[in-house]
Amino acid sequence: KKNAANQYHEMPKRVDIWEIDRRNVDVYTNKKLGSGAFGAVYLGKLIGKTLASHDATSPLGVNLMRAENCEVAIKTLPESADEESKREFLREISLMKSIGYHERLVNMLACVTESEPCLLVVEYCSEGDLLEFLRKRCKYMMKLDEQGVNYTAPVEENDIDFTMIVTMKQLYMFAVQISYGLEYLSQKGFVHRDVAARNVLVGEGSSCKIGDFGLCRQIGKDEECYKSRGGRLPLKWMSPEAIRDYEFSTKSDVWAFGVLMFEIITLGGCPYPEWRAAEVLPNLEKGERMPQPDNCPDEIYSLMNSCWNMDTTRRPDFSLIRQRMATLLEDVT
Ligand code: ADE
Repeated sequence: KKNAANQYHEMPKRVDIWEIDRRNVDVYTNKKLGSGAFGAVYLGKLIGKTLASHDATSPLGVNLMRAENCEVAIKTLPESADEESKREFLREISLMKSIGYHERLVNMLACVTESEPCLLVVEYCSEGDLLEFLRKRCKYMMKLDEQGVNYTAPVEENDIDFTMIVTMKQLYMFAVQISYGLEYLSQKGFVHRDVAARNVLVGEGSSCKIGDFGLCRQIGKDEECYKSRGGRLPLKWMSPEAIRDYEFSTKSDVWAFGVLMFEIITLGGCPYPEWRAAEVLPNLEKGERMPQPDNCPDEIYSLMNSCWNMDTTRRPDFSLIRQRMATLLEDVT
């Protein structure tokens, strides 16, 4: 007769579907994509396929993504890293396992944590980060007005590199895609804490995905916010309550999304360029906000402004933002 203890002993050894053999990932150490908080991010190749499959669900009940012989981005933790960094890195990996697959996130594909150096393998986004993309690729903006085509850059027609033109519709697309990703994260109870154009990656066909989950935290059922002290904090993307009391919540992510909308519409502009760090909170408390950029339609400015409401309860949530953006996208020419 079996008892509970016996059943326990008969359980098969639990395999981590994310863990892969180091030989299954080829890290191109001469192709550095960027530097993370701890170590570098490299381009590389996944050899063979991961166990995780898109249509299966993991023991954590989330959707997974299957990858096979494809280019990937590999976050590394140098062997020289201290214990604190290693804990943080492993925390990011375990958090990404629990987030689950979503089209609008830079999804985790696999990891190597059973031996050092630790690796985190994520989807590769070939066009790099959104801030660079906006600044370098989108030199000119194309607007259709009563006179026909109107380029915002004061240049001669024949100087225009037509591959560098971005349309208003494309900018709206970016905002819609990002809001889908943030809607998913917020519904799962995650606070990203670093929503900004530099942390959005651009893949094939200019599709945006939310990346860098280094500061991301899960909040419990009863608490609405994550309180943290210290660390590198993105002041000009932070809400007043986040600056003042280190209170991070979906509502502070919404504030940051408003700043991200400003970055998109200004093709990579800097928020509050003339404000010094110490002036940010007092100015926001006085009610100062970024003015409406020249090319920014009223509806878009009104939406970003609502994200910057002092009263957290009066900021829209990501479902509303996503619905509103999707509606505005339908109407844009
Ligand atoms: N830089 C950092 N992460 C990246 C990724 N996943 N794809 C492309 N560039 C990156």
